Amino acid sequence: MALRNRLLTSSIGRKGIMAVSGLLLSLFLLVHAAGNSTTFFGAEAFNSYAAHLHALNWLIPVFEMGLIAIFLLHIFFGIMLTLENYQARPSRYLAARSSGGRTPGSRTMIFTGMLILVFLAVHLKNFHFTDHSRRISVIVREILAQPLIGGFYLLAMAGLGLHISHGFWSLLQSLGLNHPKYNIFLYRAALTAALMVTMIFVLIAGLSMMWPEFLGG
Ligand code: HEM
Repeated sequence: MALRNRLLTSSIGRKGIMAVSGLLLSLFLLVHAAGNSTTFFGAEAFNSYAAHLHALNWLIPVFEMGLIAIFLLHIFFGIMLTLENYQARPSRYLAARSSGGRTPGSRTMIFTGMLILVFLAVHLKNFHFTDHSRRISVIVREILAQPLIGGFYLLAMAGLGLHISHGFWSLLQSLGLNHPKYNIFLYRAALTAALMVTMIFVLIAGLSMMWPEFLGG
Protein backbone atom coordinates (compact mmCIF):
# COMPACT_ATOMS: atom_id res chain seq x y z
CA MET A 1 0.00 0.00 0.00
CA ALA A 2 2.74 2.44 1.06
CA LEU A 3 4.77 1.55 -2.03
CA ARG A 4 1.72 2.05 -4.26
CA ASN A 5 1.01 5.46 -2.69
CA ARG A 6 4.64 6.49 -3.09
CA LEU A 7 4.57 5.38 -6.74
CA LEU A 8 1.49 7.45 -7.49
CA THR A 9 2.39 10.58 -5.53
CA SER A 10 6.13 11.01 -6.10
CA SER A 11 7.32 12.67 -9.27
CA ILE A 12 9.89 9.90 -9.83
CA GLY A 13 7.17 7.27 -9.38
CA ARG A 14 5.01 9.00 -11.95
CA LYS A 15 7.94 9.24 -14.37
CA GLY A 16 8.57 5.52 -13.81
CA ILE A 17 4.95 4.72 -14.70
CA MET A 18 5.32 6.86 -17.84
CA ALA A 19 8.50 4.98 -18.76
CA VAL A 20 7.04 1.48 -18.25
CA SER A 21 3.76 2.31 -20.02
CA GLY A 22 5.76 4.06 -22.78
CA LEU A 23 7.94 0.97 -23.16
CA LEU A 24 4.93 -1.36 -23.47
CA LEU A 25 3.17 0.97 -25.94
CA SER A 26 6.40 1.25 -27.97
CA LEU A 27 6.64 -2.55 -28.11
CA PHE A 28 3.01 -2.72 -29.25
CA LEU A 29 3.70 -0.09 -31.94
CA LEU A 30 6.81 -1.93 -33.20
CA VAL A 31 4.93 -5.23 -33.43
CA HIS A 32 1.91 -3.52 -35.07
CA ALA A 33 4.17 -1.80 -37.63
CA ALA A 34 6.02 -5.07 -38.35
CA GLY A 35 2.73 -6.98 -38.72
CA ASN A 36 1.18 -4.29 -40.92
CA SER A 37 4.23 -4.26 -43.18
CA THR A 38 2.97 -7.62 -44.51
CA THR A 39 0.69 -5.37 -46.64
CA PHE A 40 3.79 -4.66 -48.78
CA PHE A 41 3.85 -8.36 -49.72
CA GLY A 42 0.27 -8.36 -51.00
CA ALA A 43 -3.27 -9.00 -49.78
CA GLU A 44 -2.69 -12.73 -49.13
CA ALA A 45 0.26 -12.10 -46.82
CA PHE A 46 -1.68 -9.46 -44.87
CA ASN A 47 -4.85 -11.59 -44.56
CA SER A 48 -2.83 -14.60 -43.46
CA TYR A 49 -1.07 -12.50 -40.78
CA ALA A 50 -4.48 -11.22 -39.54
CA ALA A 51 -5.87 -14.79 -39.51
CA HIS A 52 -2.93 -15.97 -37.37
CA LEU A 53 -3.60 -13.13 -34.91
CA HIS A 54 -7.31 -13.94 -34.67
CA ALA A 55 -6.44 -17.60 -34.01
CA LEU A 56 -5.11 -16.50 -30.61
CA ASN A 57 -8.76 -16.60 -29.43
CA TRP A 58 -9.13 -15.89 -25.69
CA LEU A 59 -5.73 -14.23 -25.52
CA ILE A 60 -7.07 -11.34 -27.62
CA PRO A 61 -9.52 -9.85 -25.06
CA VAL A 62 -6.89 -10.27 -22.31
CA PHE A 63 -4.35 -8.45 -24.46
CA GLU A 64 -6.89 -5.73 -25.34
CA MET A 65 -7.79 -5.10 -21.69
CA GLY A 66 -4.10 -4.80 -20.83
CA LEU A 67 -3.54 -2.41 -23.74
CA ILE A 68 -6.47 -0.19 -22.69
CA ALA A 69 -5.16 -0.07 -19.09
CA ILE A 70 -1.67 0.88 -20.30
CA PHE A 71 -3.05 3.59 -22.61
CA LEU A 72 -5.14 5.05 -19.76
CA LEU A 73 -2.15 5.10 -17.37
CA HIS A 74 0.05 6.71 -20.03
CA ILE A 75 -2.55 9.41 -20.81
CA PHE A 76 -3.37 10.16 -17.15
CA PHE A 77 0.23 10.45 -15.98
CA GLY A 78 1.24 12.25 -19.19
CA ILE A 79 -1.31 15.00 -18.43
CA MET A 80 -0.15 15.15 -14.79
CA LEU A 81 3.51 15.48 -15.78
CA THR A 82 2.69 18.22 -18.30
CA LEU A 83 0.76 20.20 -15.66
CA GLU A 84 3.57 19.69 -13.14
CA ASN A 85 6.23 20.87 -15.60
CA TYR A 86 4.09 23.85 -16.51
CA GLN A 87 3.60 24.90 -12.87
CA ALA A 88 7.30 24.38 -12.07
CA ARG A 89 8.34 26.94 -14.67
CA PRO A 90 9.26 30.31 -13.14
CA SER A 91 7.42 32.27 -15.83
CA ARG A 92 6.38 31.87 -19.41
CA TYR A 93 9.00 34.41 -20.47
CA LEU A 94 11.86 32.65 -18.68
CA ALA A 95 10.58 29.28 -19.84
CA ALA A 96 10.66 30.46 -23.44
CA ARG A 97 14.21 31.73 -22.98
CA SER A 98 15.41 28.58 -21.28
CA SER A 99 13.75 26.17 -23.68
CA GLY A 100 16.97 25.76 -25.67
CA GLY A 101 17.85 22.09 -26.06
CA ARG A 102 14.19 21.09 -26.26
CA THR A 103 13.13 19.52 -29.54
CA PRO A 104 9.92 20.05 -31.54
CA GLY A 105 8.91 16.55 -30.36
CA SER A 106 9.40 17.29 -26.65
CA ARG A 107 7.65 20.68 -26.84
CA THR A 108 4.51 19.23 -28.44
CA MET A 109 4.08 15.93 -26.54
CA ILE A 110 0.70 16.83 -25.02
CA PHE A 111 -0.74 18.04 -28.36
CA THR A 112 0.56 15.12 -30.45
CA GLY A 113 -0.67 12.82 -27.67
CA MET A 114 -4.18 14.29 -28.00
CA LEU A 115 -4.03 13.89 -31.80
CA ILE A 116 -3.07 10.21 -31.37
CA LEU A 117 -6.02 9.75 -28.99
CA VAL A 118 -8.46 11.14 -31.59
CA PHE A 119 -6.73 9.00 -34.23
CA LEU A 120 -7.19 5.87 -32.10
CA ALA A 121 -10.95 6.51 -31.77
CA VAL A 122 -11.27 6.84 -35.57
CA HIS A 123 -8.91 3.90 -36.15
CA LEU A 124 -10.77 1.48 -33.89
CA LYS A 125 -14.10 2.52 -35.40
CA ASN A 126 -12.61 1.88 -38.91
CA PHE A 127 -10.92 -1.46 -38.33
CA HIS A 128 -11.96 -2.96 -35.02
CA PHE A 129 -15.67 -2.18 -34.65
CA THR A 130 -16.51 -3.14 -38.18
CA ASP A 131 -17.99 -6.06 -40.13
CA HIS A 132 -15.24 -8.71 -39.99
CA SER A 133 -16.95 -11.08 -42.43
CA ARG A 134 -15.06 -9.29 -45.23
CA ARG A 135 -11.33 -9.73 -45.76
CA ILE A 136 -9.24 -7.30 -43.70
CA SER A 137 -7.17 -6.31 -46.78
CA VAL A 138 -10.37 -5.11 -48.50
CA ILE A 139 -11.49 -3.19 -45.40
CA VAL A 140 -8.12 -1.45 -44.95
CA ARG A 141 -7.85 -0.53 -48.60
CA GLU A 142 -11.42 0.76 -48.93
CA ILE A 143 -11.14 2.90 -45.81
CA LEU A 144 -7.70 4.41 -46.44
CA ALA A 145 -8.39 5.09 -50.15
CA GLN A 146 -10.99 7.71 -49.11
CA PRO A 147 -9.11 11.04 -49.39
CA LEU A 148 -10.54 12.51 -46.18
CA ILE A 149 -9.75 9.47 -44.04
CA GLY A 150 -6.42 8.75 -45.76
CA GLY A 151 -5.47 12.44 -45.34
CA PHE A 152 -6.39 12.34 -41.66
CA TYR A 153 -4.24 9.20 -41.22
CA LEU A 154 -1.27 11.02 -42.81
CA LEU A 155 -1.77 14.02 -40.48
CA ALA A 156 -2.07 11.72 -37.46
CA MET A 157 1.08 9.85 -38.53
CA ALA A 158 2.98 13.17 -38.62
CA GLY A 159 1.84 13.68 -35.00
CA LEU A 160 2.76 10.12 -34.10
CA GLY A 161 6.23 10.59 -35.65
CA LEU A 162 6.83 13.74 -33.59
CA HIS A 163 5.51 12.06 -30.42
CA ILE A 164 7.70 8.97 -30.66
CA SER A 165 10.74 10.94 -31.89
CA HIS A 166 10.87 12.32 -28.35
CA GLY A 167 9.20 9.33 -26.67
CA PHE A 168 11.77 6.73 -27.84
CA TRP A 169 14.67 8.98 -26.77
CA SER A 170 13.09 9.78 -23.43
CA LEU A 171 12.47 6.06 -22.90
CA LEU A 172 16.17 5.25 -23.40
CA GLN A 173 17.04 7.88 -20.78
CA SER A 174 14.50 6.46 -18.31
CA LEU A 175 15.97 3.00 -18.83
CA GLY A 176 19.31 4.44 -17.75
CA LEU A 177 20.85 4.33 -21.23
CA ASN A 178 22.51 7.68 -20.77
CA HIS A 179 26.20 8.42 -21.23
CA PRO A 180 27.71 11.65 -22.60
CA LYS A 181 29.95 9.59 -24.90
CA TYR A 182 27.08 7.61 -26.50
CA ASN A 183 24.15 10.03 -26.18
CA ILE A 184 24.43 11.37 -29.71
CA PHE A 185 24.41 7.80 -31.05
CA LEU A 186 21.43 6.86 -28.84
CA TYR A 187 19.57 10.00 -29.90
CA ARG A 188 20.09 9.19 -33.58
CA ALA A 189 19.09 5.55 -33.05
CA ALA A 190 15.84 6.66 -31.36
CA LEU A 191 15.12 9.12 -34.18
CA THR A 192 15.82 6.48 -36.86
CA ALA A 193 13.54 3.93 -35.15
CA ALA A 194 10.77 6.56 -34.85
CA LEU A 195 11.16 7.50 -38.52
CA MET A 196 11.06 3.87 -39.69
CA VAL A 197 7.91 3.03 -37.70
CA THR A 198 6.19 6.21 -38.90
CA MET A 199 7.19 5.58 -42.54
CA ILE A 200 5.61 2.10 -42.51
CA PHE A 201 2.22 3.56 -41.52
CA VAL A 202 2.61 6.56 -43.87
CA LEU A 203 3.43 4.25 -46.79
CA ILE A 204 0.38 2.04 -46.15
CA ALA A 205 -1.95 5.06 -46.03
CA GLY A 206 -0.22 6.76 -48.99
CA LEU A 207 -0.20 3.64 -51.20
CA SER A 208 -3.86 2.90 -50.41
CA MET A 209 -4.75 6.43 -51.53
CA MET A 210 -2.60 6.63 -54.64
CA TRP A 211 -1.96 3.14 -56.02
CA PRO A 212 -5.14 1.37 -57.20
CA GLU A 213 -3.45 -2.09 -57.16
CA PHE A 214 -2.25 -1.85 -53.56
CA LEU A 215 -3.63 -4.73 -51.42
CA GLY A 216 -5.13 -6.39 -54.46
CA GLY A 217 -7.05 -3.28 -55.59
C1 HEM B 1 -1.78 2.75 -41.79
C2 HEM B 1 -1.71 2.52 -40.52
C3 HEM B 1 -2.43 1.41 -39.78
C4 HEM B 1 -3.14 0.33 -40.25
C5 HEM B 1 -3.40 -0.07 -41.70
C6 HEM B 1 -3.63 -0.39 -39.10
C7 HEM B 1 -4.40 -1.54 -39.16
C8 HEM B 1 -5.00 -2.16 -38.09
C9 HEM B 1 -5.82 -3.34 -38.16
C10 HEM B 1 -6.16 -4.08 -39.44
C11 HEM B 1 -6.22 -3.63 -36.90
C12 HEM B 1 -7.00 -4.88 -36.45
C13 HEM B 1 -8.43 -4.70 -36.17
C14 HEM B 1 -8.99 -6.01 -35.70
O1 HEM B 1 -8.72 -7.05 -36.32
O2 HEM B 1 -9.73 -5.99 -34.73
C15 HEM B 1 -5.66 -2.63 -36.02
C16 HEM B 1 -5.85 -2.59 -34.64
C17 HEM B 1 -5.29 -1.64 -33.82
N1 HEM B 1 -4.43 -0.64 -34.17
FE1 HEM B 1 -3.81 -0.21 -36.04
N2 HEM B 1 -3.21 0.24 -37.96
C18 HEM B 1 -2.47 1.35 -38.32
C19 HEM B 1 -1.86 2.26 -37.47
C20 HEM B 1 -1.96 2.25 -36.10
C21 HEM B 1 -1.29 3.16 -35.20
C22 HEM B 1 -0.33 4.26 -35.65
C23 HEM B 1 -1.66 2.84 -33.93
C24 HEM B 1 -1.26 3.45 -32.61
C25 HEM B 1 -0.92 4.72 -32.46
C26 HEM B 1 -2.58 1.72 -34.02
C27 HEM B 1 -3.20 1.14 -32.95
C28 HEM B 1 -4.08 0.07 -33.04
C29 HEM B 1 -4.77 -0.51 -31.90
C30 HEM B 1 -4.66 -0.03 -30.45
C31 HEM B 1 -5.52 -1.59 -32.38
C32 HEM B 1 -6.45 -2.50 -31.58
C33 HEM B 1 -5.75 -3.76 -31.21
C34 HEM B 1 -6.75 -4.82 -30.81
O3 HEM B 1 -7.93 -4.64 -31.00
O4 HEM B 1 -6.30 -5.82 -30.32
N3 HEM B 1 -2.72 1.39 -35.34
N4 HEM B 1 -4.92 -1.75 -36.76
